Formats: sequence, C-alpha cells, structure tokens
Amino acid sequence: MAQHTARHRIGILGAGNIFGRYAEGLRTFPELDVIRVADVDPARAERAAAEYAIPAWGGPDELLEDDAVEIVINITPPAFHAKTVIAALEAGKHVYVEKPLAATVEEAREVLDAAERSGKLLGSAPDTFLGSAVQTARHAIDTGLIGEPVGATAFVRSSRSETWHPDPRAFYGRAAGPCWTWAPTTWPRSSTASARSGRCPPPPASARRPARSPAPSGWSTR
Ligand SMILES: NC(=O)c1ccc[n+]([C@@H]2O[C@H](COP(=O)([O-])OP(=O)(O)OC[C@H]3O[C@@H](n4cnc5c(N)ncnc54)[C@H](O)[C@@H]3O)[C@@H](O)[C@H]2O)c1
Repeated sequence: MAQHTARHRIGILGAGNIFGRYAEGLRTFPELDVIRVADVDPARAERAAAEYAIPAWGGPDELLEDDAVEIVINITPPAFHAKTVIAALEAGKHVYVEKPLAATVEEAREVLDAAERSGKLLGSAPDTFLGSAVQTARHAIDTGLIGEPVGATAFVRSSRSETWHPDPRAFYGRAAGPCWTWAPTTWPRSSTASARSGRCPPPPASARRPARSPAPSGWSTR
C-alpha cells in the first residue's frame, strides 16, 4: 500500500458537541495536522484548542484568512453549511462538511458550483457509504452472492437527539431533524423518502425546551 508522507493542515469550523470526536479521530492520521479551530462563539474555540493542544483558535474569519490552513472541516449546524462551505471554498480551502451538504437542492447546487469555480476539493459526510460494511453488502448483492434479495430489515438503535445532545434545537430546525441528519447516515431509503414526501416526524416537545446554555450569536433555530 502507498505510504502517505505529505502532511496537510486542517482548520476545524465549529467547536460543538461533535468536535471532540473529530479531534480524536484526526489524531490517528499522521499525515493530518489540525492547526486551528474556529467558532462563532470564540470561547468554545478557545476551550477546544486548549483541550486538544491546537495551536490557533478564533472566529470563522480568522480561519478563512489563515493561509496555512489548507482544508476546512465544517462541523457547524446544518442550516449554516452552504454559506460556510462556499466561504471556505472562495477563501481557497478544500472542504469536508458534515451532513447534510446543504439545506435545499438549490443551495446544494450553489455549493457544487462554488467548488467547481474554486478548483478545490469538496467532500461531505456520510462517508459510511464508502466503508467496508456497506461496500461488502453491495458487492454481495451485485455479484449475486446472496441470490436475488426479496426483503430487507433494518433497525435504528439510537435514542432521539434530545436524549443525548446538550443543545438539540438545531436538529429540529432548518435543514435538520431526523429526516435530514439521520436519513443520510442511518436510513438511506426510508427516511429520505419520507423527507421528500414531507412526512417527517414532527419535533418532540422536549426538543423545544430552553437550551442549557444561551445560543451563541450567529446560531439560529426556528
Ligand atoms: N456523522 C455523524 O455521526 C454526526 C454526529 C453528530 C453530528 N453530526 C453533524 O455535525 C455537525 C455539528 O453537530 P454538533 O452536534 O457538533 O452541533 P453543535 O450545535 O453542538 O455545534 C455546532 C457548533 O458550530 C458553531 N457555529 C454555528 N454557526 C457557525 C458558523 N457560521 N461558523 C462557525 N461556527 C459556527 C456553534 O457555535 C457550535 O459551537 C452537524 O452538521 C451534524 O449534523 C454528524
């Protein structure tokens, strides 16, 4: 297997709930260095930088102006993905963004156009489709290994986000909710179909409870 020796410098945009998992995971790739973290709430970025020994932190503009940052990993809430991805591409960065790519098909097209114009690379979660489990299952079907499938069963064994997320409002706002944030990862067919048909489950009352901490500026919910 080819050895990757080049090092690439990453800036992470968004220092919320999922940040720690990214910071831990990225450490396992010797060719990747996280050199900056940014958040609209600079205190969050500062805490994240201190906890994971990231040398620079600040607001989103500072990240985009930092020429040393080659790749932006965007883990802001879904409603901000299109705007922040386009800004990063226009600042000359490659981008990997969490799901969903954008809030609407129109916004997604704008994002793709911006990537095309910039000549930079754009990737989006979930990359689980490319992982060995799904690819092996696909191979088994494509090659006839299991014959012709006549049925399939899937189980979602996860609690709703309001049971584990410290501030779940964004998951029931624009571009989010079970259909948008779970569909791409967990139930690719059924919930994408229900999102398209407008039959997404309504947000539970508990998701409308006050946040444990005030939302930082730039963070909006419906
Ligand atoms: N693939 C997975 O398994 C998985 C799991 C959890 C979350 N996610 C995705 O990760 C993303 C983040 O989720 P989270 O739970 O960490 O959210 P979160 O709300 O806990 O954190 C988001 C952070 O982004 C900051 N932010 C908001 N707008 C910003 C902007 N314009 N620029 C910079 N920072 C901004 C907020 O201040 C906050 O600190 C979402 O897109 C979510 O769908 C994916």
